[in-house]
Amino acid sequence: MEKSLPRLGVNIDHIATVRNARGGEHPDPVAGAWAAIQAGADGITAHLREDRRHMRDDDMERLQLLCESKNIPLNMEMAATTEMQDIALRLKPKAVCIVPERREERTTEGGLDVAGQHNRLVPIISALNDNGSRVSLFIEAVTHQIEAAARTDAEVVEFHTGAYAHALDEDNQDKADKILDALQQGATLAHALGLEVHFGHGLTFDNVEPIAAIPEGMELNIGHFIIGEAIFIGLEPAIKEMHRRATQARYGS
Ligand code: PXP
Repeated sequence: MEKSLPRLGVNIDHIATVRNARGGEHPDPVAGAWAAIQAGADGITAHLREDRRHMRDDDMERLQLLCESKNIPLNMEMAATTEMQDIALRLKPKAVCIVPERREERTTEGGLDVAGQHNRLVPIISALNDNGSRVSLFIEAVTHQIEAAARTDAEVVEFHTGAYAHALDEDNQDKADKILDALQQGATLAHALGLEVHFGHGLTFDNVEPIAAIPEGMELNIGHFIIGEAIFIGLEPAIKEMHRRATQARYGS
């Protein structure tokens, strides 16, 4: 396995959250994406929400231009709606991660119900694949969702690590260990079914290492913590430290 794995996708949504708090143009999430790329991000992730609470349509267009010119993959997170499908087909990001979305939620609170929405997802996944975007499905690491993902043409599953992070926040180590075990077993199953495995949500310096150590994991998508930590130590040190911890967890150095 290459020593650069797992890749680090930096989610820059919350640079836009700060910008939008004042309604102007500063801080620009696209400038943040460029800084993240220069600091060693392997990819840029951005979620265009239905309510545009952080990223805006023009941000996504500028991000795609930036990422294309720097040969860095843009991973567009989106809900499985006709509006978002049309935008993704126009933008042609290297990757699209389909996520569940509820207007009232603060962040993406659970995994996608691939098993229950198979017929709705399949044509969207095919259209995106045919347009050159690699599709991942953001799911919980449970067998029936993994098997359902494998019955679609999506090449990737991203496992939701939010419950694991939350259990550790509550000092519930037993619960965190059980969830970690499920994530490991899910990764083994997904890999055996031919799916590439990514992880994301709620990851921090303190909790990333056991996740990064899961050998099937090819990518970590991390946003809120890195952007928050950048306030204290700067974006480049935050990204470099996350990379260092992930690499150490995987390879022991
Ligand atoms: N992966 C997916 C699919 C997400 O929806 C999010 C949150 O937007 C993340 C990763 C990043 O989560 P966090 O901001 O908690 O690091």
